[in-house]
Amino acid sequence: MGGDKIIIEGGVPLKGTINVSGAKNAVLPVIVASLLSSTPCRIIDAPQLADVEVICQVLESLGAKTYWVGKDLYVDASEISHCEASDEIVQKMRASILVMGPLLARMGKVRVSQPGGCAIGTRPIDLHLKGFEAMGVQMSKEQGYVTAQTNGLRGARIYLDFPSVGATENLMMAAALAKGTTVIENAAEEPEIVDLANFINSMGGRIRGAGTKIIKIEGVSELTGCEHQVIPDRIEAGSYLMAAAITGGDLTLENVIGDHLKPVIAKLVEVGCQITEGDSTLHILAPQTLSAADIKTLPYPGFPTDMQAQYMALMTRAQGASVIAETVFENRFMHAEELRRMGADIRINGRSAVVEGPCRLQGAMVKATDLRAGAALVIAALAAEGHTEISNTYYIDRGYDNLAAKLQGVGARITRR
Ligand code: EPU
Repeated sequence: MGGDKIIIEGGVPLKGTINVSGAKNAVLPVIVASLLSSTPCRIIDAPQLADVEVICQVLESLGAKTYWVGKDLYVDASEISHCEASDEIVQKMRASILVMGPLLARMGKVRVSQPGGCAIGTRPIDLHLKGFEAMGVQMSKEQGYVTAQTNGLRGARIYLDFPSVGATENLMMAAALAKGTTVIENAAEEPEIVDLANFINSMGGRIRGAGTKIIKIEGVSELTGCEHQVIPDRIEAGSYLMAAAITGGDLTLENVIGDHLKPVIAKLVEVGCQITEGDSTLHILAPQTLSAADIKTLPYPGFPTDMQAQYMALMTRAQGASVIAETVFENRFMHAEELRRMGADIRINGRSAVVEGPCRLQGAMVKATDLRAGAALVIAALAAEGHTEISNTYYIDRGYDNLAAKLQGVGARITRR
């Protein structure tokens, strides 16, 4: 993955082809769901991400075995000896709390550190816990840990106050091995939920309705190993589309599902890009001048919060003012401050930001404050005059497989140090 800093000399239009990797937010729950299986699972062509390494360490700490054969990741959870996710683990990666569902199903007990706030918001887990309670789980909380225990998970009807991705996944995994049928209403509809349901069904599960607001899970008594290839990363793809758009590029992406990127494509077309969809490819041709357009982040199929920072970077170079409303997380504008250091004119008012464009972006020393904020800085730097140094790049490595090499391949002057 390389050094701690990413150095970019801006001003080169991106031209060529980038191959998109498997989705971070699909592979993490799929790896965790392998805990449901009493025999090994093979995840084909898994993305090489720091977060994948961390979740594998989490599984190892529970007694499962994980190993790579070439680009395929194997998870063997035939024996699980521990049922705790420590504070250290949850602090490193919030997605670790997804072990709750499978461990309750396999062991009847789990102890996890209750995650605190993070760089993008408070991110409580109340919806996960309420759902488990409805399935016959008793909760107790002490010293920052939640202990959940059950004599046997049973199917339940669960309405989520908000279509949380993590809560939908956690409950779907628990329900897969519960007695009876679970119905999750107001479920998250993200493509990653569909991918997880397909994976569980390949292990012998019975899940219907994933990708809609109502998911029905008929519990089965055992799940067994299978092979699965996760969906392409729609956020990685979207980030490269933004990078092409801001540099006046001409880029083709391979291994994409255009349907998963509809709100992003619609916006890019609105701001002046030409986009052509092939079977598993997307081609973008950027205009001479971008025009400004507003966005509001929403759960899928709305504009993804995970593309908000990158879109903000793009709007700094567009003609006119754009309003960016963040409705999913309450504190996801940390990148605005760093973009300002590069010359952007951005005002934040509560959960909205106003970007006045076009501004002259100039290289600067900036730092990634979270994964997508880091991607936004890379995008801005690619269009900026001169030299940008991005620090805290471990955030970027969490979710972008080989970012520097992929961008070098399409002409960007980008190095790691
Ligand atoms: N929420 C609650 N209570 C809960 C759960 C969530 O109030 O019990 C709130 C959160 O605080 C937040 C909103 O609901 O304001 C959305 O949270 P959600 O549970 O949907 O998100 P998540 O499962 O924690 C996943 C992705 C995020 C992505 C969000 C939204 C993974 C591993 N993470 O997080 O990805 O932003 O869904 O789409 O799948 C990223 O990749 O950069 C990233 C942050």
